Amino acid sequence: MTATAARALPRRRSIPRDIYATGVGKKYVMAVTGMIGIGFVIAHMIGNLKMYLGPITEGDERVYDIDVYGEFLRAILVPILPAGFALWGLRAVLVAAVALHIHAAWGLSRMNRNARSVKYLSSRDYQVASFASRTMRWSGIIVGLFIVWHLADLTWGVVTPGHVPGGAYYNIDRSLSRWPVAALYIVANLALGLHLFHGTWSLFQSMGWNNPHFNRWRRNLAVVVAAAVTCGNVSFPIAVLAGVVEYDPSAVTEPIEDSTT
Ligand code: HEM
Repeated sequence: MTATAARALPRRRSIPRDIYATGVGKKYVMAVTGMIGIGFVIAHMIGNLKMYLGPITEGDERVYDIDVYGEFLRAILVPILPAGFALWGLRAVLVAAVALHIHAAWGLSRMNRNARSVKYLSSRDYQVASFASRTMRWSGIIVGLFIVWHLADLTWGVVTPGHVPGGAYYNIDRSLSRWPVAALYIVANLALGLHLFHGTWSLFQSMGWNNPHFNRWRRNLAVVVAAAVTCGNVSFPIAVLAGVVEYDPSAVTEPIEDSTT
């Protein structure tokens, strides 16, 4: 074959890319990455419940239980891997899942827009869809912006003066006792609840697991996942504002000094 003839042939894509180019492929990617996200938010909420356990005795030290949990995450698979390696691996999976989830959502909405060159004449189709399904894009954008703020707040500390690396209990109290921040956490987590409700429900459809016999079971699962994560997460800023979660330097062996006063 001459070089000119080879150039005229359509370029071969790999099989995964061919599948991803279709609507069904993108839905699969949304469902699988969505499941990773759901697993993370459930585990993260359960881990954060440790703030309600307050200070505990570790050996001959008094420490906040949620701070010990942070150390545990860094120690996953030690000594097979160096400290922090497995955690970075999990973070990489999470970042890739979020990026693919957003990319597939954007691709699907472009495909839908192109397929529907004539706008709806009536709003009937919108009426039959639930509030959660109609607001997926907005709830997703709110959650995405929240994650950026949240990392800047509690992980990097760039928006929270006095942030102390590794002092999760102290940082949570410091940040969420500012009522505008607490309000932001509440609003974002209500949006996450809506997103989780419709996401959990529709991932079964995307994966092709939509036998009418278990539709009720699907709905119940979506309600339980969304309600559990939302109630847990919304309770944290409320508990801080109410003083139920409050950093007490006299309760621990090595108290954190307030560096901002
Ligand atoms: C009120 C609810 C929440 C609280 C109190 C909270 C608390 C925390 C804390 C204290 C950390 C820092 C851990 C450390 O570095 O020591 C953290 C990290 C993180 N949070 Fe949250 N979180 C909440 C909700 C969420 C939600 C809804 C999401 C996602 C949708 C989320 C995603 C993350 C991520 C991605 C990290 C970084 C994890 C890492 O790199 O180790 N959080 N959170």
